[in-house]
Amino acid sequence: MPKLSDRTRLIAGATRRGRGRRPVNPPIERASTMLSDDPAAMQDPGDGPVYGLDGTSAARELRTALADLEGASEAFLVPSGLAAVTVPLTALLRPGDEVLTTEAVYGPTRRFLTRHMADRGVAASFHPAGASVEAVMDQMHERTRVLLIEAPGSLTFEMMDVPALAAACRKRGVLTVMDNTWAAGLAFRPLAHGVDVSVQALTKYAGGHSDLLMGGVAAQAPEIVRAINNVIEDMGWHVSPDDAWLALRGLRTLPLRYEAQARTALQVAEWLQDQPEVANVLYPPLPGSVGHSLWRRDFDGAASLMGVVMKGGGKAAAHAFMRELSLFGMGYSWGGFESLITYETPQLAYRQHAPDLPGQLLRLHIGLEDPADLIADLTRGLAAWRAQQDSNLQPSA
Ligand SMILES: Cc1ncc(COP(=O)(O)O)c(C=O)c1O
Repeated sequence: MPKLSDRTRLIAGATRRGRGRRPVNPPIERASTMLSDDPAAMQDPGDGPVYGLDGTSAARELRTALADLEGASEAFLVPSGLAAVTVPLTALLRPGDEVLTTEAVYGPTRRFLTRHMADRGVAASFHPAGASVEAVMDQMHERTRVLLIEAPGSLTFEMMDVPALAAACRKRGVLTVMDNTWAAGLAFRPLAHGVDVSVQALTKYAGGHSDLLMGGVAAQAPEIVRAINNVIEDMGWHVSPDDAWLALRGLRTLPLRYEAQARTALQVAEWLQDQPEVANVLYPPLPGSVGHSLWRRDFDGAASLMGVVMKGGGKAAAHAFMRELSLFGMGYSWGGFESLITYETPQLAYRQHAPDLPGQLLRLHIGLEDPADLIADLTRGLAAWRAQQDSNLQPSA
């Protein structure tokens, strides 16, 4: 059979499962205890999970589908996207080691490095967001053991030359872990580009409905797979069968949702770019945006998440904009069916080298709504932003 596309493979995984009359989807098997027929069979993994921690049908099918998507020999499930980042770092780093990552790394990942890992003797250093391969490699020390890549970066969306970074790290004996949540395992394949571990928050597009938290970790090399497996086993991480079932259901429609949301996001980004109140839209698929040329070269698709830098304005104007919107929920996370907005300027203060933006930073997540309705909503929001700006300019009575 010819190689099937992602879209077909993610569905064929359901129709090709098992034999005989059966439901399309696996059962939700809620279990701690598993029963065996014979004492000799109690420890036989060939007979299925020995204990609930081993994962039941939905989790097992989800792991297989995720490994296939990522081109990995093994994929693991953990309770959140954050855990998907922290597990491989815990597996690969030892006291005395150093991990290097971008200034634009996801905030809680930074906290994990500077609090948990620092307390345990692992040092973290941060390179400028969007730095060149040479600049990143120049910042490595003798003890640098892992490069943690996030591209595009959180909030400011800088891209990195991942294939070149992976090759340079491999040559130097440095391992690479990539937070690939933005690409959802679809638009970019870290392992095919030489990265050692690909992680993503399945919470976002795979879940797709803002109703579960989960992370996926995928790797190829047996020693890395073993190290990740051991951390998950030793820490006792587990995902619920209900959540695994929901994430598996999400995967079946992931490519269509991802593509539709990206199409609307590009429309919204192009429109925003032309508005006089907007200084800059940070969205790599948008021509002229930060990271556009690397995105074009390496990515097959895009998430529907972008930064919007306003032309001046303070916090009050940003808040007035947000309050005026009726179709964008004010809430964290992304990848669900609904559009969301967050105010991000305060987050930039955690960076050593905060980017020099000409105004306040908002983050938009574009959902599955009609683009015309979203643009009409944003038009009202921009009017509220202008009104707040104008009131700031009025001389006080
Ligand atoms: C880039 C990135 N990685 C990881 C995560 C963590 O995912 P979770 O919310 O499932 O912990 C997030 C969440 O926003 C994220 O934006």
